[in-house]
Amino acid sequence: MAKTLDIPHIDLAGDVSIPQFGLGVFQVPPDKTFENVTHALNVGYRHIDTARAYQNEAQVGQAVKSSDLSREELFITTKLWNSDQVKPIDTLKQSLKLLETEYVDLYLIHWPAPGHDLYVQAWEGLVEAQKQGLTRAIGVSNFQAEHLRKIIDATGVTPAVNQIELHPYLTQHGLRREHADRGIVTEAWSPLAQGAVLDDPVITEIASAHNRTPGQIVLRWHIELGNVVFPKSMTPSRIEENIDIFDFELSAEEVERIEALDRGMRTGPDPDTFNG
Ligand SMILES: NC(=O)c1ccc[n+]([C@@H]2O[C@H](COP(=O)([O-])OP(=O)(O)OC[C@H]3O[C@@H](n4cnc5c(N)ncnc54)[C@H](OP(=O)(O)O)[C@@H]3O)[C@@H](O)[C@H]2O)c1
Repeated sequence: MAKTLDIPHIDLAGDVSIPQFGLGVFQVPPDKTFENVTHALNVGYRHIDTARAYQNEAQVGQAVKSSDLSREELFITTKLWNSDQVKPIDTLKQSLKLLETEYVDLYLIHWPAPGHDLYVQAWEGLVEAQKQGLTRAIGVSNFQAEHLRKIIDATGVTPAVNQIELHPYLTQHGLRREHADRGIVTEAWSPLAQGAVLDDPVITEIASAHNRTPGQIVLRWHIELGNVVFPKSMTPSRIEENIDIFDFELSAEEVERIEALDRGMRTGPDPDTFNG
């Protein structure tokens, strides 16, 4: 029986509400995904972040189907890969088939891939996909301010979210302000910098003060900034640890100390040059 927790939600445009916390399944191999997602759902996760490129949509769908949760209780995101930007609707339909669902809750353009110059066209496709009911909300990922401006100017439609690399070593202050100005919700990918921030002395000191783990401190920092997060873990005890962050708070000073760790460090590609 899946456990129910009180996870905060954030409202997106169009009467859609997103759980602020979920599970990311990047680099979870297909043969481990069913078990991974099933464990997460059992311990209270209701939001799964996958992508066509992760090649595990089918196993996410199987885990959802075999759980005792209804589709309406879950929030599922998937993403359009760069080479599919010319055919967003057909590609989304393929993802829906793999996920065994009639709709996703959020569909994202995975990267702008500016070298291909197709992301405006792709965005028009996502706008149409939402009209057709294939996705409840639409957004983008890895878009810089200039990419956001171009798609909004071309269509008049603002993405509900922008999913960007964001963690204490890459705090994305400027882009977060751009999001706030435009009413875009910030989703933080690699929220733990794939583990690279967990030994930082500032993080470990704050963790000791709260009697929490470094991972919990970093995830709590994201929640207090208003970011949506979905850490990836294939370790059952960490899956449980990561969601156990809703019964304590950081002080304003602690939030600022973590923010001050920014060093512009990317763990992934630069969106201005990555065309994948
Ligand atoms: N849009 C994009 O371009 C993009 C790019 C990258 C990621 N994402 C999304 O963001 C999600 C998360 O990002 P990510 O997977 O790159 O990195 P992450 O969540 O920052 O870190 C995952 C790594 O941290 C370890 N870990 C997890 N919880 C931990 C804890 N409590 N203590 C210590 N180590 C812990 C995991 O190890 P174990 O698995 O061994 O436990 C794994 O090696 C992805 O799954 C995906 O959904 C999106």
